[in-house]
Amino acid sequence: MVKTIKVLAISGSLRQKSSNTALMHAIVGLARENMVFTIYNGLGDLPHFNPDLDVDDGPVSVLELRSQLNEADAVLICTPEYGNGVPGVLKNALDWLVSSGQFMNKPTAVVTASPTPMGGDKAHDSILLTLNMINARIVEEGTMMIPHINLKLNNEGVITDVLTKRGLISLLESLVRACS
Ligand code: FNR
Repeated sequence: MVKTIKVLAISGSLRQKSSNTALMHAIVGLARENMVFTIYNGLGDLPHFNPDLDVDDGPVSVLELRSQLNEADAVLICTPEYGNGVPGVLKNALDWLVSSGQFMNKPTAVVTASPTPMGGDKAHDSILLTLNMINARIVEEGTMMIPHINLKLNNEGVITDVLTKRGLISLLESLVRACS
């Protein structure tokens, strides 16, 4: 029997019309039947990271994030770049996870998408540094930078660029391989 893989998908953008959130949903649509996705939607509700608040179970929203990660076999992150770095809300979420260990050995794929020609390269490098620090297992072929996202994802959230679509399918396959 084929194992079902539970993936927690996180977009690093809070924007209603976020290209990264749309991309994340498009990636979910490319997945095989043996992948089940939960979309994490609590990024904007997390308090600013403060170790003083991280006592007992910590704040409820943090507990929820940690428990969704505990439930997941793998994680997919899609994020933009802001100010040459990882969006503050996403870095904030990762800061809450440094000491609690949910990313330890967790198969993880990271996509940065940007309308610029660089594809969010600085955010990409930066988030990988943080994920490595918290011992996430960044899967082989599980990272992708997508420049000119506005030319590759249409207004209906469909990936129109063949190479991008192919790359994302292979990224999902890498995630599956890492979980089996
Ligand atoms: C940006 N954007 C941007 N892009 C980039 O590649 N590097 C950067 O440093 C920045 N910095 C930045 C700062 C500010 C204030 C804004 C408003 C925008 C562009 C940004 O990545 C773009 O708007 C994305 O479309 C945002 O992602 P979502 O919300 O579409 O997923």
